[in-house]
Amino acid sequence: MTFTEEIIQGIPSQLPNPKTYDTKINHAPKRKEILSVEEKKLALQNALRYFEPKHHATLLPEFKKELETYGRIYMYRFMPDHKIFARSIDEYPGKSTAAKAIMLMIQNNLDHEVAQHPHELITYGGNGAVFQNWAQYRLVMKYLSEMTDEQTLVMYSGHPLGLFPSHKDAPRCVVTNGMMIPNYSQPDDWEKFNALGVTQYGQMTAGSYMYIGPQGIVHGTTITVLNGFRKINRSPRGGLFVTSGLGGMSGAQPKAGNIAGCVTVCAEVNPKATHTRHNQGWVDEVISNIDSLITRVKQAVSGKETVSIAYNGNVVDVWESFAEAEIHIDLGSDQTSLHNPWAGGYYPVGMTYEAANELMANDPEAFKKAVQESLRRQTEAINLHTARGTYFFDYGNAFLLEASRAGADIMADNGIDFRYPSYVQDIMGPMCFDYGFGPFRWVCASGKSEDLKKTDAIACSVLEEIKKNAPKEIQQQMADNIQWINGAQENKLVVGSQARILYADSEGRIKIASAFNKAIANGEIGPVVLGRDHHDVSGTDSPYRETSNIYDGSQFTADMAIHNVIGDSFRGASWVSIHNGGGVGWGEVINGGFGMVLDGSTDAQRRLESMLFWDVNNGIARRSWARNEEAVFAIKRAMASNPNLKVTLPNFVDKNLFN
Ligand SMILES: NC(=O)c1ccc[n+]([C@@H]2O[C@H](COP(=O)([O-])OP(=O)(O)OC[C@H]3O[C@@H](n4cnc5c(N)ncnc54)[C@H](O)[C@@H]3O)[C@@H](O)[C@H]2O)c1
Repeated sequence: MTFTEEIIQGIPSQLPNPKTYDTKINHAPKRKEILSVEEKKLALQNALRYFEPKHHATLLPEFKKELETYGRIYMYRFMPDHKIFARSIDEYPGKSTAAKAIMLMIQNNLDHEVAQHPHELITYGGNGAVFQNWAQYRLVMKYLSEMTDEQTLVMYSGHPLGLFPSHKDAPRCVVTNGMMIPNYSQPDDWEKFNALGVTQYGQMTAGSYMYIGPQGIVHGTTITVLNGFRKINRSPRGGLFVTSGLGGMSGAQPKAGNIAGCVTVCAEVNPKATHTRHNQGWVDEVISNIDSLITRVKQAVSGKETVSIAYNGNVVDVWESFAEAEIHIDLGSDQTSLHNPWAGGYYPVGMTYEAANELMANDPEAFKKAVQESLRRQTEAINLHTARGTYFFDYGNAFLLEASRAGADIMADNGIDFRYPSYVQDIMGPMCFDYGFGPFRWVCASGKSEDLKKTDAIACSVLEEIKKNAPKEIQQQMADNIQWINGAQENKLVVGSQARILYADSEGRIKIASAFNKAIANGEIGPVVLGRDHHDVSGTDSPYRETSNIYDGSQFTADMAIHNVIGDSFRGASWVSIHNGGGVGWGEVINGGFGMVLDGSTDAQRRLESMLFWDVNNGIARRSWARNEEAVFAIKRAMASNPNLKVTLPNFVDKNLFN
């Protein structure tokens, strides 16, 4: 059967042969056993409703076994025979360019080169699902191959509710993931309702078909490192950045340090993780002995080298021995997985990786104590360094939270705040999001690397043009992104689809998109899909991350993210999505995103101008109302550029009035 035939077929009426479990690929861990006997029956009935009754007797024991073995029903038998990867848009069957682009983006999220657990339909983050099961994949691809530009596909957490009549300016697809009645949003609720097959965790760009591999995280980390050095008025050249983790996201740190031009030391306890990143060329050197590390770091710093060094061992040893050796650390952070401290996210100092894993399994209480002791030691050593001038920031991994829970000396004098800021509070928020700069991205739907090269050149010349007249407040942002886009080809960042990311504000996004649309119309490049990470100016309400630099109390509301997705959908997005959970956990964040297909038409031009303007300025307006001065500046500029924009501005109150 050809690729097209298999797509058009959807769920086959003849059962495909059962698949053997492929032990060579990375699989999702067995999920927690959470359903009662009756609930298991419900989960099975829910799964079987995708299939004709004649198959139920065969499928029931098979799905029951999957539920018992893996804690979920993935319907492995229905994995397609075709290879899943982002093909050129022309290879997808269909009547709608946007629908074909969505197929391309879905396939990219499930590509074995890209996805973390491809057979469980998980793109990243351990639980970031595109679909819950393979029946949903098949149905969705079939619907997309049939639909016209007068229909909209409605997605409930991976389940295609169906195609509904709409109109050509409406989104072709509307996605919700994990939207719960608020009282049912605890972590165990996800376990239960996901096992029942009625909801899923979409993370950010997994369930919204907008993941572009590790490039996004490399760029975000580069921006953070560069701005971290600026925060302390120091050039990265000859500067030292110390951190930990060479895992999924954390593994981007040494590469980002290299792009920024500093000396990076990244400790990692798992030798396999170190090996992987070293092999990929994401970290330059590996050192396993602390004294050798000290010697090498002194040499690298004094020689102002651009180099990244992995320390095979515990990060606490690095902080402590660097303090003793009086090595000055300019920038410090931590990216162990402290959002998951008791099950392998953080390894305590003073024991081998293997011994820690054994203790974790055999004596969880003792393991917890060891983790907390280690966090107290780590904090103590960090405090020594910061007293000598190190700038330390939390990297959204709950380091400050868990250190405080462990009783470490991490609280500020007021006893309420932490001693150190998070990367959004100090860096991303005021330097980027409040000015409207965020992770804009695009994918060349032709699949051609030449198209990506041409779009890089177009984006670069647009940014250079804007920079000429940009106010001084955003000159640095413009310069960073020009430097990034200039080095993008050389840094070989593409994994999967032909994608690119850069930080741009609404002016930059609109002008770049317009230039792409023109190049498509002129036949210079094929269609382009625009999008962004949900971790952006307006896309995400998350009080301890994206909106942690909102201080008027509204950081615990989610109006911005909800308005964003509604506004995007009637201003011309090709698809929109809104999710509960992503990055920081189920119930902790509401985030949304969009995809927009440019085909060179005047309709596409009208849509991009309207939607991108809203998509950025919604968040700036909210940040401005929260009295963030950078955002007040940015929204006033936006109002000056568009007379139809009238935003309610805050009045600042003299604090002395309260004395
Ligand atoms: N990079 C970002 O922009 C970003 C943004 C927000 C949040 N985060 C957070 O950063 C954390 C890391 O994410 P990830 O995807 O890399 O997770 P990961 O689990 O893949 O990697 C973390 C690594 O830390 C190592 N580690 C644990 N304890 C250690 C110790 N004491 N010393 C040295 N190494 C140790 C682990 O072996 C693991 O390889 C997560 O909590 C994530 O939510 C990252």
